[in-house]
Amino acid sequence: MNSLEQIVSVAQADFLAAADAAALENAKAKYLGKTGQITELMKGLGKLAPEEKKAQGALINAAKGQIEAALTARRDALADAQLQQRLNAEAIDVTLPGRGRAPGGIHPVMRTWERVEAIFRSIGFDVAGGPEIETDWTNFTALNSPENHPARSMQDTFYIEGNDSTGKPLLLRTHTSPMQVRYARSHQPPIKVIAPGRTYRVDSDATHSPMFHQVEGLWIAENISFADLKGVYLNFVKAFFETDDLQVRFRPSYFPFTEPSAEIDIAFGSGPLKGRWLEVSGSGQVHPTVVRNFGLDPEKYIGFAFGSGLERLTMLRYGVNDLRLFYEGDLRFLKQFN
Ligand code: PHE
Repeated sequence: MNSLEQIVSVAQADFLAAADAAALENAKAKYLGKTGQITELMKGLGKLAPEEKKAQGALINAAKGQIEAALTARRDALADAQLQQRLNAEAIDVTLPGRGRAPGGIHPVMRTWERVEAIFRSIGFDVAGGPEIETDWTNFTALNSPENHPARSMQDTFYIEGNDSTGKPLLLRTHTSPMQVRYARSHQPPIKVIAPGRTYRVDSDATHSPMFHQVEGLWIAENISFADLKGVYLNFVKAFFETDDLQVRFRPSYFPFTEPSAEIDIAFGSGPLKGRWLEVSGSGQVHPTVVRNFGLDPEKYIGFAFGSGLERLTMLRYGVNDLRLFYEGDLRFLKQFN
C-alpha cells in the first residue's frame, strides 16, 4: 500500500472511531487541517517538476476527496444517531392510559352554606354577600364595640395595609356582623336577611382556622322579638340536621351589639352526640345603638341577630372532630361528602 492509500485508510478508521462531532473535528484536523497530512503533501508539491507535480497533485486530490467523503459520511451518521437518541428520549408512549378527569365535588362547608341559604330562603329571608376587607367602623364601631374592646387587639384581628377614609387601618372582617350594618343601611324595614361568608381571625387549632365561615342572620321590623329568634332558630336547626329530635337552649352571654345576648346550644336526642349541649351560634336582640347606626329609630324598630359558624354546623352534621380536615385538601376526606 502506498503512503497515500495508507493515509486514506487510517483517516477512514479514525473517523469511524470518533464518537461525537467534537472528536470527529479533531480527527479531521490531522488530515485536512493547516498542518494536516494532506495539507502538508499539497505544500510539498511546489518543489516538484511540472510533470510530476501534475501527476502527484491528482493523486493527492483524489485521496483528499476520499477523506472528505469519509468525513461527510461520518458527520451524517453521527447527526442521525443524535437525532435518533433525542427522538427516543422524547418519545410519547401513546399506549399509556390518560390521566383522566375525575368529576369534582362540593366541599362539605359549601354544602352547608347552600343548605343554610335554601332553608332561610324558604322562610322568606333574603341572602346577601359583602366585602371580606372591612373598615373599623363597620366591623366594630357601628356594632357598638368600644375602642378598647379586646377583639380589636392585634391578636384577634388581621389588619391589612391601607386605611379607610377616616385614617383607620383596614382589616379582614372578624365576623359577618358588619353585614348587618351594610344591609340595614341600604334596605328599608322590614329587614330579613342572612349573610353567609368568609371571616378571619388570628387563631388556629383543632376547632379554629384563621379563615372560617359564618352566617349572619338579621330580622328587624316593628315587632320582632326574642320569641321570633327562638322560633326561627329552632326551625332552622331542625331543618338543617333533618330531625325533630333535638333541643335548643339559649344561654345568657355578651356581645356589644346585642342586648340581651345569648349563645345558642343544641342537644340531639339520639346519635353519637346524644344529650350533649353543643354551641352553634351567638345571638341576641339587636342593641338600640346598633339600630340607630342602621339609620333607624330604635324606638320604632326592633329585632334579632345571630351569627353561626358554618364549619361548626358542618362538623356536627357529619361528625367531624377536627376542623383542620376541611382545609388540608385531602381527597380521602373530601370524597366522603360526594
Ligand atoms: N358576631 C358574633 C361572633 O362572631 C356572633 C353574633 C352575631 C352574636 C349576631 C350576636 C348577634 O361571635
